[in-house]
Amino acid sequence: MILHDMILHDTQRLTLCGTDATSDLDDFAADVRDGLTSTSKRLSCRFIYDEPGSVLFEKICALPEYYLTRAEAQILEDRSHELGRMFDECPTIVELGSGSSVKTRIILRALSDEFDEVHYVPIDISTEMLTNAANDLLDMFPKLNVTGFAGEYNDGLRFVHDEIDGPTCMLWLGSSVGNLTRDVAADFLTLLRENMDDEDRVLAGIDLKKDAAILRNAYNDNAGITRRFNQNLLLRINRELGGDFDVDAFDYKVIYNSEIGRVEMYQVSRVSQEVHIRDLDLTVSFEQGESIHTENSHKYSLDDIDALAARSGMEKAAQWFDDERRFSLNLFKPS
Ligand code: AVI
Repeated sequence: MILHDMILHDTQRLTLCGTDATSDLDDFAADVRDGLTSTSKRLSCRFIYDEPGSVLFEKICALPEYYLTRAEAQILEDRSHELGRMFDECPTIVELGSGSSVKTRIILRALSDEFDEVHYVPIDISTEMLTNAANDLLDMFPKLNVTGFAGEYNDGLRFVHDEIDGPTCMLWLGSSVGNLTRDVAADFLTLLRENMDDEDRVLAGIDLKKDAAILRNAYNDNAGITRRFNQNLLLRINRELGGDFDVDAFDYKVIYNSEIGRVEMYQVSRVSQEVHIRDLDLTVSFEQGESIHTENSHKYSLDDIDALAARSGMEKAAQWFDDERRFSLNLFKPS
């Protein structure tokens, strides 16, 4: 249930709102049962992001092979002032899955140069992450007010729709769209569209299709961090559901599926083995070479981006690239 009036924390410049704690463990348990008992075994990548998974993701963002974060930051550095000047009044910056809000600083700095007051509404599942990130930003930007929303995206969107006046610019950065199938991505953007007024915008970072070797390397780094990031799903099953996965009994496999246009990540059983998950009262058998599909990262051509926008009732207001044209930043408006 959404609690718009549930103020978790309120200082002069920081308000923290949120929803009831969701039962993430029940969702995780259901996903694990469903995924590991299906013919082609799979797990949802959204469950990688517990505390250890989030720490590993921060490390991925700094890896030499993982160009996405740097390319997007470069575009934001180059274009944030231009973005700010596209609005007559300062838009409220809403961010989906704000995390540590590091890239957002670039936009907030540019808006602080252009306008007298800046309002930022980060939406994230982790109250701790929200509070820490907000306090850092408030120290950095004297003109800033923050209204953080702790909860799921959908509740956050409803909160923004009901509570925030004036134009909004919704940030969906980091190519998070890539972890959704193309249909789910279009449904999600449609949901954003349904909550938008004419002057509202969505700023989406979207990774582009490119040479398959570059893509495979980005998701199979030399230091093995992305392998550990994906393994975290198995370790989380051990930690939270009483599983006995031996992660060393699985290889990590990364392919680029050019037909679908996505990088696919798998855990492949090195031996024939049984894994027990106590809290689910479940035994899962693996043949040697059998895999669990743990993550997808979809890549987009420029036509794919136009099609995604059109399916969602939106169109490009602007589109920017990094110097090497590896990554795109797209400003969408209602069409
Ligand atoms: C969060 N998301 C956009 C990342 C991606 O590139 O698909 C997650 C990731 N998985 C492995 N490396 C990065």
